Amino acid sequence: MRHLLAIDDLDRDAIIGLLDGSEYMSEVLAREIPKVPALRGKTIVSLFYEDSTRTRLSFETAAKRLGADTMTFTAGSSSVKKGESLLDTVRTIESMGIDAMVVRHSAAGAPHRIAGWIDAAVVNAGDGRHGHPTQALLDAFTLRRHRGDLTGARIGIVGDVRNSRVARSGIECWDRLGAQITLIGPPTLMPERLDGWPVDVAHDFDAVISELDVVYVLRVQQERIGRALLPSLREYYTRWGLNTDRAERMKPDALVMHPGPMIRGSEIATEVVDGPRSLVREQVANGVAVRMAVLFDLIGSGGLV
Ligand code: NCD
Repeated sequence: MRHLLAIDDLDRDAIIGLLDGSEYMSEVLAREIPKVPALRGKTIVSLFYEDSTRTRLSFETAAKRLGADTMTFTAGSSSVKKGESLLDTVRTIESMGIDAMVVRHSAAGAPHRIAGWIDAAVVNAGDGRHGHPTQALLDAFTLRRHRGDLTGARIGIVGDVRNSRVARSGIECWDRLGAQITLIGPPTLMPERLDGWPVDVAHDFDAVISELDVVYVLRVQQERIGRALLPSLREYYTRWGLNTDRAERMKPDALVMHPGPMIRGSEIATEVVDGPRSLVREQVANGVAVRMAVLFDLIGSGGLV
């Protein structure tokens, strides 16, 4: 793999290869000293033009666990404020000598453009409403650990699918692994066009909840939504929130996931987040292992120890 820009760049075997690699990395993370020198001497920079907690820290932890040097760039405290362009910023950073650049940007396609400008490997850590491939991989890894396989798993993605790069990458990834995906939410938060997407759509959450193996809850991305499209938040929660009543109607072994950040009480109840079905904290922990596997695949050369 030269870059990881979208799940579309990966076929089923490539996805499975990365998940198997993540399994190995997760063994490394369970060691007394959770570190291997596989990327010693390599430099990885995270270039974040949009806010992030999990994704940025997870990539940086992954890089450090592999012995790489890390640099962090956040647009808010940089010369972007003085008017420096994306191209000049990227070239400036590249001149310092880097092997990989992890990019988050509000413009869809920004990581693809950057990949055309520099020699370093580029990883998409979220671009606009387009994609977030490592999130999809870490969710697949988390589910595989619980179910053994995603074949036939019925995954309901609930909420603001229209604005969600997590949903877009998730659908591409989990479909390749054999899952069946149902999108659930108000019509205004569904993608405008769904032709060719391997999904069903349900507007009535209660009608499908008892058939799902996984309920994947999304945040309502207020910052990307025009006011007019959203019912009141209270109405939203009543109809599409994963409250305790709904959670009780799930299959006995069904699982709950959320990519974070969560707004408790807005899309998911606190009791459900902290309850026995919830994989939320495992998703975060697994994110480090999966990003280690991705970074090693992109810029590792020697073997693993
Ligand atoms: C999301 C993102 O930024 O795409 N979070 C994440 O990376 N885990 C989802 C969101 O902001 O709701």
